[in-house]
Amino acid sequence: MPMYSEDIINEISSRIDIVDVISPYVSLKKKGNTYFGLCPFHNEKTPSFSVSPGKQMFYCFGCGKGGNAFTFLMQHENMTFPEAIEYLAEKAGVELPKQEMTAEQRAFQNKKSQLFEVQKEAAKYFYYLMRDERGKSALEYFKGRGLSEETMQKFGLGYSDKRSDDLYHYLKSKGFSDDVLKDSGVITIDERRGGHDKFWNRAMFPIMDQQKRVIAFGGRVMGDGEPKYLNSPETPIFDKSRTLYGLHIARSTKRNAFILCEGYMDVIALHQAGFDNAVASLGTAFTPGHAALIKRFVSEVYLSFDSDGAGTKAKLRAIPILKAAGITCKIINMEPHKDPDEFIKALGPSAYEERIRNAENSFMFTIRILERDYNMSDPTSKTAFFKEVAGRIVRFPDELERSNYIEAVASKYGIRQDEFRQMVIRLAAEDAVNPGNGYEREEYDEAPQVKKRPMRDKASEEAQKLLLTWISEEPFLLNGVGNYIKADDFAEGILRITATHLFDQIERDALAPSTIVNLFDDEEEQQEVASIFHATVGELESPAEKAKALREVVMRVKRDSFKRQKEEMAESDPNIVLKTMEEKKLQKELENIDFYDISR
Ligand code: GTP
Ligand code: MN
Repeated sequence: MPMYSEDIINEISSRIDIVDVISPYVSLKKKGNTYFGLCPFHNEKTPSFSVSPGKQMFYCFGCGKGGNAFTFLMQHENMTFPEAIEYLAEKAGVELPKQEMTAEQRAFQNKKSQLFEVQKEAAKYFYYLMRDERGKSALEYFKGRGLSEETMQKFGLGYSDKRSDDLYHYLKSKGFSDDVLKDSGVITIDERRGGHDKFWNRAMFPIMDQQKRVIAFGGRVMGDGEPKYLNSPETPIFDKSRTLYGLHIARSTKRNAFILCEGYMDVIALHQAGFDNAVASLGTAFTPGHAALIKRFVSEVYLSFDSDGAGTKAKLRAIPILKAAGITCKIINMEPHKDPDEFIKALGPSAYEERIRNAENSFMFTIRILERDYNMSDPTSKTAFFKEVAGRIVRFPDELERSNYIEAVASKYGIRQDEFRQMVIRLAAEDAVNPGNGYEREEYDEAPQVKKRPMRDKASEEAQKLLLTWISEEPFLLNGVGNYIKADDFAEGILRITATHLFDQIERDALAPSTIVNLFDDEEEQQEVASIFHATVGELESPAEKAKALREVVMRVKRDSFKRQKEEMAESDPNIVLKTMEEKKLQKELENIDFYDISR
């Protein structure tokens, strides 16, 4: 991945305007010094998404998303940091230093871009063929399956000709070499017989990556025949375990969950029915790579795999993988229908919406399936079942979660909660003395732990944020405030780092708060920085009111700073007394100060 220097990033920052960057995605209205619009990251009816041209930052008061122009593109367009830099550099007319690549890297990049070209040409050709006389059968096929013209266009559906070297000749005529074509997945090159198409006489589904680039194809026989679906093999640009069909659209959904299904037609039918959040893993098992990809967009998934035995097995495999990625998952029951496509066709979108509302918790689903292996009218078998369930509950790392499931299971099966709880506790105890009895956690069983933070004092943080906002809006105030407040007076971590850089920028007369966001890699931290600079000073009219409010904020920050310093000292430390005296003296001094006066 290319790396760019801080200087060049700051250069780009100084030449772009965040309002221009965000405007194509959000309609913004100016109110005072700030622009407001409907947040593109969550569903809302009244605007709480704000963009500050002064600070070159955005922040949503509704959902807490925030950052600068770079992080907006990273969050909204899923660009990587280097991609955002390259995009904005071009917009700003800043020339980026050329990245040195080895000859081998260059050749590989070149090969990859040619492979993208091949897929694009092939997709255009299939698309054209289906609208041609030769492709009538495919058009009829898709129409017969209830797809509208618009849907076919949205998914770029097409047709591959009956002749088995039709695409090969077409691509040759476009100038692609056999050497590139043989790695494209759509053509096989045979020493003796020459080039042949992988797909012929099939209804074609282009598979796209997140940036809507075609990277592979699936092709279905029209009618009966084997195999029903044929998919491109993996190539340098197609990694099955990291590709989800439909993601190029679902990534922009406003819903906060994805629907995960099994087939091309399921995804397409769902989208046509208004579920723009449907995706599928194609012809391969669901992998941790898929889960990681989903987690970039949502943290909840509705599983809508087939209702049959194979579908049930696939669900049982996918559930722990999703859980391990930190995604909660619910199971949609489509009985008596087989898959989402057939369900929608039979009962319509609102019935499906209803099934989403009634989706089953994944753990309750798992044990319901497990129950089938036991004879519940036989006491021994029944006990063995509850023991197995208890064993699974033991594996949950979270106490509250265990407790909730004990309650849910007891109520569902009409057994006594306290008895069942005892069973779980006994198993947990056995587990502790005798690890390895089979109840240890499975490979994917544990969701990643949420990062632990020290206890935070909200009110104190608010005061510190407010002070930073205030100074960033009226930087001259640092002249006076700086006599009493240093960066060290802010709580360790984001607040102190932000204060250090902000004060430094003001002293160098190079104020650019938005560049501070770039110091943090973590999206949560970036949002937090944006929230710091979007604290509201409120409606303070008279200069006297403002001076008084500022004084109080400074005093609060100073008091909390003293408190932290003293907490760090040993109780017996004689310096504590000195600190207290210093604090008293300072508080007295601050009592009557007008920072506006002394700063000018
Ligand atoms: P329709 O019959 O067109 O509705 O397909 P479906 O999506 O209901 O098919 P099914 O449930 O049989 O398969 C689900 C997915 O598995 C398909 O979309 C394909 O991606 C994949 N698949 C199905 N059959 C085959 C096959 O024969 N070979 C391969 N490689 N993949 C298949
Ligand atoms: Mn189907």
